[in-house]
Amino acid sequence: MSLAGRITLVTGASRGIGREVALGFARAGAHVVLAARDEARLAAVAGEIDAESATADVVPLDVSDISAVRNAIDGVVARHGRLDVLCNNAGISTARGHVADVAPEAFAGVQAVNLIGLFACCHAALPHMTAAGYGRIVNVSSGAAIMCNPGESAYATSKAAVNALTIAMAKEVEASNVLVNAMSPGSVKTDMNPTSDVPPSEAVPTAVWLAALPDGGPTGRFYRFMQELPMLPDIDLDWKSR
Ligand SMILES: NC(=O)c1ccc[n+]([C@@H]2O[C@H](COP(=O)([O-])OP(=O)(O)OC[C@H]3O[C@@H](n4cnc5c(N)ncnc54)[C@H](OP(=O)(O)O)[C@@H]3O)[C@@H](O)[C@H]2O)c1
Repeated sequence: MSLAGRITLVTGASRGIGREVALGFARAGAHVVLAARDEARLAAVAGEIDAESATADVVPLDVSDISAVRNAIDGVVARHGRLDVLCNNAGISTARGHVADVAPEAFAGVQAVNLIGLFACCHAALPHMTAAGYGRIVNVSSGAAIMCNPGESAYATSKAAVNALTIAMAKEVEASNVLVNAMSPGSVKTDMNPTSDVPPSEAVPTAVWLAALPDGGPTGRFYRFMQELPMLPDIDLDWKSR
C-alpha cells in the first residue's frame, strides 16, 4: 500500500494512535502534516519522521476552533498545492458517567472535539478534494459507536454521529472520487486507554489501507483490521436480558 507523493493531514498526531498513523503514512511514502494542540510533541513526531527520511510539517491546531481549522486546511493547500488524505483522529473521552451525572456542558465538550471538530475538518477539506477530483478521508471512530455502553453516552454518541456523518458524506462526494470511511482502532494502549495491553500501532494497517484506497474503492463503510463492521447499533430488542 503506497502513499507515495500524497499530501496527508493527521489530527491528534501528537501522541497515541495519531502519532502511529502519522508514522505509518510517512513510511508508506506520504508527506504528513501533523496537527494537534501540543506543538512540542508534534515537533518530536516530526523529528521521528525526518529521522526515517520522510517529510512532515507541524500545524498547531485545536479542532474545536472552527476558524482555526479552516485556516489550517487552507494553509496546507496553499503550501502543498492540495490535500489528498485527511485522517480525522483527534478525540477525547471525557464526560464519563451516567447521563444524570454528566453536565450538559461536559457532554457538549466531547461533541465539540469528536464530532464538530471532525465535521469542521471535513467541511474545510472537501471543497479542495472535490475540486482536485481526489480525496480519501479516514475518520477514527470507535466500537463504542455500536456498543453504546452505559456511562459512555457522550463518547458513544459522538462516535455514532461520526459514523452517520461518514455515510452521508460518502454519498455526497462519491462522484468526485472522494472516498470517506470510518475505522475502529480497537482497544489499544494510549493516554485515553491506559489499561489496554495492545500497542496503538495495531491501528496503522487499517488507516494506511483506507488512505491508499484505489479509485472506485469502498466508501461510507466502517472497518476494524480491514474487516467491515456495522456502522450503527443493530437494535437488539432483547437488550434488557443481556
Ligand atoms: N485508544 C483506544 O483504545 C481507542 C479506541 C477506539 C477509538 N479511539 C479513538 O482514537 C483516536 C485517538 O485516540 P488515542 O487513544 O490515541 O487518544 P490519546 O492518546 O488521548 O490522543 C488523543 C489525540 O487527540 C489530540 N486532541 C485531543 N483534543 C484535541 C483538540 N481539541 N484538537 C486537536 N487535537 C486534539 C491529542 O493531542 P493534543 O493534546 O496535543 O491536542 C492527541 O494527539 C480518538 O478519536 C479516539 O476516540 C481510541
